[in-house]
Amino acid sequence: MAEYEPVLLRRVGKPNSQSIETYLADGGYGALTRAVTTLTPEQVVETIKASGLRGRGGAGFPTGLKWTFLPKNHPGPIYLCVNADESEPCTFNNRVLMEEDPHQVLEGTILAAYATRAWVAYIYLRYEYGRCFRTMQQAIQEAYAKGFLGRDILGRGFHLDVYLHRGAGAYICGEETGLIESLEGKRAWPRIKPPFPAVEGAFRKPTVVNNVETLACVTHIMDRGVEWFRSIGVPPDPRNPRDAGSYGPKLYNISGHVNRPGTVELPLGVTVRELVDKHGGGVWKGRKAKGCIPGGISMGLMTEAEFDTPLDFNGPSKVGCLGLGTGAVTVFDEQTSIADVLYNICRFFAHESCGQCTPCREGTGWMLKMADRIRRGQGRLEDLEILREIGNAIGIMPGTTICGLADGAGWPVKNAITKFRAEFEELIRRGVRREPLVGSGSH
Ligand SMILES: Cc1cc2nc3c(=O)[nH]c(=O)nc-3n(C[C@H](O)[C@H](O)[C@H](O)COP(=O)(O)O)c2cc1C
Ligand code: SF4
Repeated sequence: MAEYEPVLLRRVGKPNSQSIETYLADGGYGALTRAVTTLTPEQVVETIKASGLRGRGGAGFPTGLKWTFLPKNHPGPIYLCVNADESEPCTFNNRVLMEEDPHQVLEGTILAAYATRAWVAYIYLRYEYGRCFRTMQQAIQEAYAKGFLGRDILGRGFHLDVYLHRGAGAYICGEETGLIESLEGKRAWPRIKPPFPAVEGAFRKPTVVNNVETLACVTHIMDRGVEWFRSIGVPPDPRNPRDAGSYGPKLYNISGHVNRPGTVELPLGVTVRELVDKHGGGVWKGRKAKGCIPGGISMGLMTEAEFDTPLDFNGPSKVGCLGLGTGAVTVFDEQTSIADVLYNICRFFAHESCGQCTPCREGTGWMLKMADRIRRGQGRLEDLEILREIGNAIGIMPGTTICGLADGAGWPVKNAITKFRAEFEELIRRGVRREPLVGSGSH
């Protein structure tokens, strides 16, 4: 892939990259000023629609299209929720944006609020992100002081207040309706949809929920234009009429057994192999990779043989993964026990299931028990089939649960059993006993 010049991470590492002074000196808030003074909200929506921007929070829903679902001529209030919960394991790209360049996130937030006619924006921030809390709070105060927030922004009769809301410390708080419930002061139990948030969201009013990275992209689309954005990434596959393309830059996190973990910005569509070998410095200790988690654990697993898969909105599904997810790749080396990987994944989902839906609450618990006995050398061959069956039966896709947490819980289990079956069978036949993992005694 040709050298790519970062845009989202362009200012990371510069002195005082968090301050509004350096942001303004680098042309910051220029896109907002031009949009508010020369474009109507509808024109901003049309620009984002034309760019082909798809949400970076996991589902890849077209952003401009989502904004058009808000009811027309609504008397208000309309709310914007910035999803900064970022609890998907192995994922930390929103954190980098908020810690290092909070004003580009805030500018995108203000642009989105202008486009959707929102009066109030809530930034729902993962509780554990203390540094983000400080940088974002400082950025909000600076933006108020410069007149980019508050009443009559840029003298155009546009008002916006932004509140930073610290999350409740659970994975489910990132699911958009769980987030809204939590914002309202309740337990983050996802809502049955429809109604979708655009019709009935926060405080039962029309609400748009967008991810931090999505909104940072909005800033740059409004600054550099639609053509620029569409010149990056992957156009739609002509053989797939449902493919809307994968345009624009993406932040990819690389972690696990690599020499150089971190975050890189590249055009959508980079392969796992390029991420691992070039940007992650290769697999650590001179070993080979056994596989990876390609986009947060809820997207499933890839074997090393699948590392040439492009990480765009279509690529991962071609090798049986759920989707692109968050673009966070976690590598495990050839010495890693796949039974340990499966056990850790199951432990996470059993812990994070909110418990509303029986298939998710019970299914994640059953999967954990089986993964545990397999890794302790007490598994049975039939456990593999039962695990696959549960993985297939829980989730929105089979229509048995309220939210997608259960799909995310089932997918890596199905992938693990299918793609690494020989290793599981050998473990079960040998009956290898393993010590409990740290902290594994709680279930
Ligand atoms: C269990 C679960 C957890 C989620 N966690 C997050 C999260 O931490 N951040 C996020 O942006 N989206 C998360 N999502 C997706 C959101 O529900 C929603 O699709 C997203 O915030 C929309 O923003 P986007 O269109 O800009 O991607 C999660 C979804 C599920 C099912
Ligand atoms: S699928 Fe799981 S996490 Fe989602 S609402 Fe149902 S029980 Fe809760």
